[in-house]
Amino acid sequence: QRSTKFGVSTSQNEAANLYRRMAADPHIAPAGLAVHIGSQITSLDPFERAYSALLAFGAALRDEGLDVPGLDLGGGIGVDYDGGTPCDFAAYGALISQLFADSGFKLGFEPGRSIMANNGVLLTQVIYVKDGDNKRFVIVDAAMNDLLRPTLYEAHHTIQAVGDYGADIGPADVVGPVCETGDYLGQDRMMPLLDAGDTLAVMSAGAYGAVMASSYNTRPPAGEVMVLDGTCHLLRRQRTISELLAEESIPALD
Ligand SMILES: Cc1ncc(COP(=O)(O)O)c(C=O)c1O
Repeated sequence: QRSTKFGVSTSQNEAANLYRRMAADPHIAPAGLAVHIGSQITSLDPFERAYSALLAFGAALRDEGLDVPGLDLGGGIGVDYDGGTPCDFAAYGALISQLFADSGFKLGFEPGRSIMANNGVLLTQVIYVKDGDNKRFVIVDAAMNDLLRPTLYEAHHTIQAVGDYGADIGPADVVGPVCETGDYLGQDRMMPLLDAGDTLAVMSAGAYGAVMASSYNTRPPAGEVMVLDGTCHLLRRQRTISELLAEESIPALD
């Protein structure tokens, strides 16, 4: 679309001309066409329309005699951030078969979020519970530097107390210790009576979690553990503050 920074428009033959130019260049061997129509798409209809258009476009280029080895269908499969219901890959797969079965194109997919999001949780401990004038704040030891999505685009992640803390006593904002008002993991969440040391699980943190983490506020991002068949494997340990500082060098200035 011309209205976003992404992609090349198919209007006015822009994409076709670009492909022709690349195919004519002796130094470039085009691998095919790629489409990514957006994120968190929960109906198959937009995929069907986009993929049909891509297929027709690829077929038209082939009819001209151009080599179009593959079609990359991008990502965008919507994830349930509320209840964690798995994505309906069977329905998505059926659509792909229906559209591309005999097309002869090699297909590529980018389904990372839809596979990973609900397979990861961010575990965090309560540091302190602060009763504000009109709000309860549960301050935890994870923050926007570990999981940026709520701060960045008001993304919703379910937050659960790990263990039996009794019934919820009222809403609270679950916030980190970073010096930003926007440093929160959840707002107005019903929470039980919590105290320092209690554990919370921020759900659906398996995608756009660790990869978007930073060391803002000199906070080493959380380590990563994979649980496989009941066994924990440390994938990446949390760096210490000394290690963070050791990565920096100060120029010798006169
Ligand atoms: C080209 C491309 N592919 C795949 C993705 C992943 O999308 P999602 O995580 O929403 O499935 C993106 C995200 O912006 C993208 O730009």
